[in-house]
Amino acid sequence: MKGVTRFGIVGTGKRGLTYARALEAAAGAQLVSVSDLDSERASIVAGLVSADVEVVGSLEPLLDRCEALIIATPDDSHTEIALAALAAGRAVLCDKPAGITVDQVNALASALTARPSVPFDLAMVLRYHPFYQALAEVLHTRRTVTQVHVMDMMRGEFYFRRWHRLSKYTGGIVLHEGIHALDIIGWLLGTHPLRVTGSSFSSVLKPKPNAAQHCGDCAIAGCAHRFDVQTDPLAAIYRTPRLQEGEARDLCVFNSTRDVEETHSLLFDYTGDVAVSYSLTLVAPIRTRRYTFVCDDVVVDADEATSTITLSGPDGTHTRRAEVPAGEFGGADRRQLEHFASMVRAGRRDDSVLAQNLAANVTGIAAERSMRDGRPVTVDSDMATGYRLSVE
Ligand SMILES: NC(=O)c1ccc[n+]([C@@H]2O[C@H](COP(=O)([O-])OP(=O)(O)OC[C@H]3O[C@@H](n4cnc5c(N)ncnc54)[C@H](O)[C@@H]3O)[C@@H](O)[C@H]2O)c1
Repeated sequence: MKGVTRFGIVGTGKRGLTYARALEAAAGAQLVSVSDLDSERASIVAGLVSADVEVVGSLEPLLDRCEALIIATPDDSHTEIALAALAAGRAVLCDKPAGITVDQVNALASALTARPSVPFDLAMVLRYHPFYQALAEVLHTRRTVTQVHVMDMMRGEFYFRRWHRLSKYTGGIVLHEGIHALDIIGWLLGTHPLRVTGSSFSSVLKPKPNAAQHCGDCAIAGCAHRFDVQTDPLAAIYRTPRLQEGEARDLCVFNSTRDVEETHSLLFDYTGDVAVSYSLTLVAPIRTRRYTFVCDDVVVDADEATSTITLSGPDGTHTRRAEVPAGEFGGADRRQLEHFASMVRAGRRDDSVLAQNLAANVTGIAAERSMRDGRPVTVDSDMATGYRLSVE
């Protein structure tokens, strides 16, 4: 169909299903084919959206059928799949992160430099969220920002049940989750980090000797973290065999084997003499990101959950609320897909945005290195010449 970009999705888990549904609603985009290591899951997801979506068994036939590939597999597999798609000349919308190591990010940056006309986007979906677009309007009015403080709070216990609890799949949970806030800071301030230092802790979910390995087998009554696979809204797609560690979904959050912590605390020096602090906790009572931007003329406080932006200055305090439509990320996935589909049709990509996305990606890797080694890490962020980290 003319004017419609034909998409394929690799990875039809939670995120792949979200993309499949967002493509149904997106103008100028059509889902034609899906693939997953678990072909039964791919068939279930295809059936949930449209009878016309073809299920194929591997990446090669998927690339044959689509103009643009969406990568929605676990984080450690993104680079290899993206490189294969780029080599086949396909446009790529890659979920974050682009890579979990600096070598992976550099391999991708080189492949992109070698193919300047192939559209590529990293799925930094918050840029399409109405709350962040309202915040960008406030901060882009030439304010000089000296400090940024971010509190990232999640009800993220599910991460301790799934593959996310093992850093070999994610590179670490700050890289996996914090990349969003780091990308927002790079976008809003037009800066990138030079140095990071951090530490991490676990204080709530300590091992419980009397708990079973799976909630379904556990005799402890009234556990606040009990997960019932029968009532899980995603039960339809996770009923197929467990091909990966963590797909059980009801692993005990106290006893599951994991090497990621609950709470993370980081300090960054950004170019332009901006000091940034970022904390992430996975066991908060609410899900939100709260930002304070200290500017030379006002202080801007912004809260994602309530969509409120408050400006405090010598003239008093003014609060506005961004209009955010119902639905996950305020419809940002659909807007991102429509934007990407139009880029594919125009045969272009935006390397200045990509450079910011990849800088956030490498900063997340640096943050993980600093927390692991207990040392400050210096970041070199240049997409053209390659990214480098040095442990001080
Ligand atoms: N941008 C966002 O806001 C956002 C939100 C959620 C998740 N994500 C990202 O989406 C990705 C997927 O997360 P999820 O929660 O859907 O995971 P998931 O485990 O629910 O789904 C991943 C699927 O990929 C399949 N798979 C694994 N390796 C594969 C391979 N090599 N080839 C084909 N299929 C493969 C698995 O069988 C599984 O069905 C992650 O990278 C995550 O970071 C992004």
